[in-house]
Amino acid sequence: MGELGLLGGTTMNARLLAWIDEVARLCRPDKIHVCDGSQGEYDQLCAQMIEQGAMIRLNDAKRPNSYLVRSDPKDVARVEDRTFICSHNRGDAGPTNNWMDPKEMKALMTGLYDGCMRGRTMYVVPFSMGPLGSDIAHIGVEITDSPYVCVNMRIMTRMGQAVLNVLGKDGDFVPCLHSVGMPLSPGQADVPWPCNPDSIYISHFPEERAIWSYGSGYGGNALLGKKCFALRIASSMGRDQGWLAEHMLIVGVESPAGEKTYVAAAFPSACGKTNFAMLVPPRGFEGWKIHTIGDDIAWIKPGKDGRFYAINPEAGFFGVAPGTGDATNPSAMASCSANSIFTNVALTDEGDVWWEGMTERAPAHLIDWLGQDWTPGCGRLAAHPNARFTAPLQQCPSTDPGWDDPKGVPISAFIVGGRLSKNAPLVLQAFNWTHGVYLGATMGSEATAAAVGQAAIRRDPFAMLPFCGYNMADYFNHWLDMGRKVNYPPPIFRVNWFRKDEQGKFMWPGFGENMRVLKWIVERVHGRAKAVESPLGFVPQYEDLEWSGLDYSRDKFQELMRVDQGAGVADAQSQEELFDRFFDRAPKEMLYERMLLKSRLWRAPAVWELDGK
Ligand code: OXD
Ligand code: MN
Repeated sequence: MGELGLLGGTTMNARLLAWIDEVARLCRPDKIHVCDGSQGEYDQLCAQMIEQGAMIRLNDAKRPNSYLVRSDPKDVARVEDRTFICSHNRGDAGPTNNWMDPKEMKALMTGLYDGCMRGRTMYVVPFSMGPLGSDIAHIGVEITDSPYVCVNMRIMTRMGQAVLNVLGKDGDFVPCLHSVGMPLSPGQADVPWPCNPDSIYISHFPEERAIWSYGSGYGGNALLGKKCFALRIASSMGRDQGWLAEHMLIVGVESPAGEKTYVAAAFPSACGKTNFAMLVPPRGFEGWKIHTIGDDIAWIKPGKDGRFYAINPEAGFFGVAPGTGDATNPSAMASCSANSIFTNVALTDEGDVWWEGMTERAPAHLIDWLGQDWTPGCGRLAAHPNARFTAPLQQCPSTDPGWDDPKGVPISAFIVGGRLSKNAPLVLQAFNWTHGVYLGATMGSEATAAAVGQAAIRRDPFAMLPFCGYNMADYFNHWLDMGRKVNYPPPIFRVNWFRKDEQGKFMWPGFGENMRVLKWIVERVHGRAKAVESPLGFVPQYEDLEWSGLDYSRDKFQELMRVDQGAGVADAQSQEELFDRFFDRAPKEMLYERMLLKSRLWRAPAVWELDGK
């Protein structure tokens, strides 16, 4: 171990000890601390950050055991253009990922890491993605010079000595190296949020399963268990080993009779995923319950009984704060009512937090996310739009009792959803697995193309575009393959909550009312709900959905479900662009599905309506 001893947790894992030694020699920290994950260690790290002016303890009477952190204004979000997949072969990263040769990237980053932790403590953070010891879980170790990362990892993952115990002498782990990239020379004062925003690299080495991150201390750039490991590296592990690492929430739907059905759902960022994961059943659904397993990531493996089993690899929520309030998501508010860390939100005069959308009216005075005085109407946002709460999953009132079950939960249906204002029905069911994979592959959201003032569809296959650690075309193939690994592949559904009418108003109320769609999906799984065939897939008729407690007319529903032949064909045409990008590797099934879709649309009337088709 050279001249520096290890403090904190203990390990006899030879590979881990050798790696700690290697990193310490390169990064040259003043101290090394192996995190044991204890409450005492957490409290001490927070006390240290408070002393350095990097953290504020909130009023315990308002928000017990919780803290506020403000980042550098240049370090506030994931940086996709600085994210790299460094596979040996460029084609294995595919056209949608930034690529660099692994040797070149390592040479470049070794230069950056050289002496980068001088004046700082190097923390070794052992973590398990998934329940400790689960067959579906995997272990990672993050080496970081950020105490903020340590305390967040303790909430977001199972972290500390218990993980080192499972790792044992020769257990395997994914090494995740992180530095904020701001060494301190002797006597140099630290800043509250050290970072190096002009030199950010978030690099993934899928073949050797390693992550190297430099320059940013924020969210997914720095908490390497989340997007870097649980999605990018895990997706390539899943391809090699026959499982799925997906950007999906997992919920259990319990009927009044006590029947529980679990579904996994993919939505692009900013489509209300956390709200859906914590859905509160609306009026008319007395006796129904929603159980939350996860709000962001699902690891799914085929079980011995021929079904898919899923775990949430995380143990906490790293939720977007703005827009979250008691009116929109009371369970998320309860989740972060204590024992939480808030980043880039505003501070109230009473020592609590506030952000846009938490309450209808803003407090009369705040300290905003930049640390400046703020009053309503001052023209600035109080919280950064990507401000976050880090909260323990167990604090969510709807958390499923089985969330930590090492076996995982059986998945009975997949849902994919986009954000489209036109031509996309509320819900449809794929004809079969291959068609379902096609629906996932062509998922999209509208991005307003400012130049032309028109809405263009940004395709985001399975919401994995920024998170797939290998060539997306191989990913489509892998999904097709996975359908062959289970006895009855679950049905796949596509939803869209965002259709607008001619006045530009949302046609569907969303939030808790999405339960009506979820119930139909669950009933389809159990063969109890009816559907008719549309050119796009199987769809419910008005009477197939539960309407009690909501006044929603048949005419409006028909409008919400209608399919316009011309628009449908134009959409199918534009999907060609997506598959053309992957022409060398895209599975032929995707091309055939597009042709089938076009021929179904050509057979359909100009406007396909539920009752008048
Ligand atoms: C997230 C994202 O932060 O998907 O979860 O962007
Ligand atoms: Mn996400």
